[in-house]
Amino acid sequence: MEFYEVIRTRRSVRSYKPDPVPEDVLRRVLDAARIAPSGSNRQPWKFVVVRDPEVKRRLAEACDGQMFIAEAPLVIVACGFNIHYNRGRYMGDYSMLVDVAIAFTHLILAARAEGLGTCWIGSFDNEKVKKILGIPDNVNVVAITPLGYPRSPDVFREPGLRKSLEEIVCIDKFY
Ligand SMILES: Cc1cc2nc3c(=O)[nH]c(=O)nc-3n(C[C@H](O)[C@H](O)[C@H](O)COP(=O)(O)O)c2cc1C
Repeated sequence: MEFYEVIRTRRSVRSYKPDPVPEDVLRRVLDAARIAPSGSNRQPWKFVVVRDPEVKRRLAEACDGQMFIAEAPLVIVACGFNIHYNRGRYMGDYSMLVDVAIAFTHLILAARAEGLGTCWIGSFDNEKVKKILGIPDNVNVVAITPLGYPRSPDVFREPGLRKSLEEIVCIDKFY
């Protein structure tokens, strides 16, 4: 699938078929995250693939009860290591969040290219999710997504309301 079509037609999918995701497809999608860039190439991430229906249900509850998450055959939980960064002054310890967000974006776009739906979930209880998955103290949950085939194929359409380029781009200075 052509790159610009992938990014134009990726949508948040909130209803899924129960059909399984083939192993080779899942592997390609995870590999897209694996090869993402990161500050100093530290790759401070780990991705938990959840298949167990009961674990998915508990995760969906920990995502403020967004139960559609458990409908998908898989849920991916993107975790980041709380590394102390002493290079690249600007983001410092927050660069883990930037790194994991980049990798997760790779994953989400690769999923779209494979005809799979995702929905970036940012509304979750970090401590609850950590407990459910046995995530250690030095790691935090950054993002979660269900992964599966959308119930409606029409969901992959052009984006809805977005700011215009004129509103978000300025030349030579901020205005
Ligand atoms: C950081 C972040 C957190 C989000 N959290 C949630 C969430 O908890 N639940 C949800 O249904 N959608 C969530 N979304 C999806 C946004 O609502 C969605 O991306 C936005 O409305 C644009 O729609 P689109 O993804 O279909 O283009 C989140 C998206 C991002 C990037």
